[in-house]
Amino acid sequence: RGQITIPHLRALKDAGTPIVMVTAYDYPSARAAEAAGVDIVLVGDSGAQTVLGYPSTVPVSTDEMLVLAAATRRGTTTALLVADLPFGSYEVSDEQAVATAIRFVKEAGADAVKLEGGGVMSVRRAAAVVAAGVPVMGHVGLTPQTATALGGYKAQGRNADSAIAIARGALALQEAGCFSLVFEAVPNAVTAALMPRVGIPVIGIGAGPDTDGQVLVFHDLLGIRDGGGARFVKRYADLQQAMNDGVAAYADDVRSGAYPTAEHGYSIDPVQLARFTE
Ligand code: KIV
Ligand code: NA
Repeated sequence: RGQITIPHLRALKDAGTPIVMVTAYDYPSARAAEAAGVDIVLVGDSGAQTVLGYPSTVPVSTDEMLVLAAATRRGTTTALLVADLPFGSYEVSDEQAVATAIRFVKEAGADAVKLEGGGVMSVRRAAAVVAAGVPVMGHVGLTPQTATALGGYKAQGRNADSAIAIARGALALQEAGCFSLVFEAVPNAVTAALMPRVGIPVIGIGAGPDTDGQVLVFHDLLGIRDGGGARFVKRYADLQQAMNDGVAAYADDVRSGAYPTAEHGYSIDPVQLARFTE
């Protein structure tokens, strides 16, 4: 298939064809996303936790995210590649946001960037980055970079004021020129009420069935983690167990002498061996 573009995503929305988005952080995860024909690959700052082992998304740096994004780019051929702007890389000023976004495009080959929040600051930064020529995906509802201010990792929009804030943010981000939005951990009914008012593709995660598409974290859907994860996660494999089992079987074989055997070794001509050992 051909390259997925922003107009193509809009056409999928208009046709009512669900848009598939998944995170990836390196070459093999990008290859898996490509093999499945997903539409959007997100180099999420969730990689701070899933591949870098930080306790939250807050500590990850732009330089670290650029390494993940560049590796993902090398494995992504047709999907639209979106990179998260990490916490602290866009809040300070419009100039900072534009400079960071341009790094993701020039140094990592991202097609677009995503930034969190629907408040005044985030909307301004989105508009500035769009004006600089970098497509922006917005992200409202649960925004993990500012989870402390939201009262923790929990669903948003569960009372009228909170739902109104999500609606205002979504519409303001659309007005700022975002090409798409993520709704994270928002009640299904709030999403359903908002969808008729949003003209750009909305990708949900824990936002119910009425969005234009869905996103899940690669490591969550494949079970590369300890524990279950959020309510919205559906697990399609248990790869952490498969990895543990595979490495344990290798360790057993080394310790028992079952590995390596003759088939894993190289040979040498006996005459040459005799000359070598004499
Ligand atoms: O970082 C991430 O994985 C995300 C998605 C959950 C939308 O932002
Ligand atoms: Na993110």
